[in-house]
Amino acid sequence: MSKVTVVGAGKYGSTTVQRLAEADMVDEVVMVDIVEGLPQGLALDMNESRPVLGYRTLVTGTNDYADTADSDVVVITAGLPRKPGMSRMDLLEVNAKIVKGVAQEIAKYSPDCVIIVVTNPLDQMTTLVAEVTGFPKERVMGQAGMLDSARLTHFISEKSGVDVLKIKAVTLGSHGPTMVPVPSLCDVDGKSLDEVFDAETIEELLDRTRGGGAEIVALLKTGSAYYAPSAAAAAMVEAVIKDTGAEMPVCAWMTGQYGIDDVYLGVLAKLGAGGVQEVHEVALTDTEVAGLREAAVAVKAKVADLAEIDY
Ligand code: APR
Repeated sequence: MSKVTVVGAGKYGSTTVQRLAEADMVDEVVMVDIVEGLPQGLALDMNESRPVLGYRTLVTGTNDYADTADSDVVVITAGLPRKPGMSRMDLLEVNAKIVKGVAQEIAKYSPDCVIIVVTNPLDQMTTLVAEVTGFPKERVMGQAGMLDSARLTHFISEKSGVDVLKIKAVTLGSHGPTMVPVPSLCDVDGKSLDEVFDAETIEELLDRTRGGGAEIVALLKTGSAYYAPSAAAAAMVEAVIKDTGAEMPVCAWMTGQYGIDDVYLGVLAKLGAGGVQEVHEVALTDTEVAGLREAAVAVKAKVADLAEIDY
């Protein structure tokens, strides 16, 4: 019996639940939220779509963490999304309180689960969940790199006209200004990025990727992105649940790779049963490694902010 819990029945959470259920990869998906009726109503609506779409996964909507007991994987989306003009840092205090409470409940009811954190600010929230649960670090990771890489891939496709499915693009580092796009790992239908674009265009694409979340926030005016984010989170859940060993850019705990340790950072990692099975240290250019180290310093400084606030 396989079970996944998604905490938060907002846009990100409910879309993630829908993707997981429709993929028919687990027996049950539990969606928990503090708003009474919201997860229950969404769950009922999704369950009624099963005969039409032809899948069996059952969604349980609840306000009670007891229903999440013995989950294999938990995705934490609970928290406020960024509003226009609001930085991820502004969210720190309010979301730290929410995520701390959620992490305590998860650790109580599913002590052996793998946790995927998506609530922003991502690096701090992932660190906080690892601390509050006391779980081994490989069982706690954050989602950012999958999404940022997908955004860069889309932008490259849009600009070049190359089939989106024939492009591989990778971003590492942190979610936000210290994101480290990795042009040396990009493959545009067999060509390198600088064979396809001039330096100015590449910089434009990378900049747009760094601001990818803010671009959508500005357009939506209320709330933040959730279609691509939920696709990214669901792909990570699938790798863990099915123990595929797939390599993905995720926010993982560093233990000396690239000369970096004691920090959650966006890197390529092998995901499977038990969470992060291995952080893959790939060959990067000196500039890219320097970017990663810079991102690690920035994340450590941001994590230190957690000690300054009351949560
Ligand atoms: N426990 C469970 N759910 C909670 C809690 C809590 N303690 N506190 C808030 N929530 C729920 C809210 O009731 C709401 O339904 O979290 C949900 C958040 O949903 P949205 O406001 O729609 O936000 P969403 O777009 O889903 O983004 C969630 O993901 O990308 C990040 O920056 C984003 O941090 C934000 C998170």
